Amino acid sequence: MGNEIRNSFFVRTCDLVECLQQDHREIKKAMSDLRKAKSVDDLVSKSDAFRRLVRCLERHEQAEEIALYEPFVGKADFRTAILEGFEEHRLLERLIQEIAALAPHDDRWSAKVEVLLENLEFHLREEETDLFPDIEKKVDRDSLEMLARRFLEARRAQERGQVPYLHTVPAGRRFMNA
Ligand SMILES: [Fe+2]
Ligand SMILES: [Fe+2]
Repeated sequence: MGNEIRNSFFVRTCDLVECLQQDHREIKKAMSDLRKAKSVDDLVSKSDAFRRLVRCLERHEQAEEIALYEPFVGKADFRTAILEGFEEHRLLERLIQEIAALAPHDDRWSAKVEVLLENLEFHLREEETDLFPDIEKKVDRDSLEMLARRFLEARRAQERGQVPYLHTVPAGRRFMNA
């Protein structure tokens, strides 16, 4: 009930790009927390901060692919940026899987986390400066609101456990037909 009210409010006030940008703000907060945790000598904080970022990121990537990448990958105006986006998501997933296989006291853990953060920063910046403004410029408001509803439906499916989280799916197996 609470979620329904919150989501219907969200749909009335957000189009797809606003939903995505709100997610990006949450991801950036989790990135900043992980950067802080990375520099202190507390293994539990490091693991917790990493898990929180992974959770934010996997929720975002899945919903973003369903509501933005898949509907527009066939459109010439957006195809190059979206194909690059798919590849960047897969690269981030591979890094996440490699980090998850290491212990936080391993110095390779910190090195890989740094590379993850750098790649993620690059990916978010590219979407925010190129893809999102292009979508806002070329896609009408009604379509963006309809896609926002698809985005929120993907979220609800994740909450119901109908969409597997990334770490349960081998990298590159999802969206093979994109
Ligand atoms: Fe993305
Ligand atoms: Fe994104």
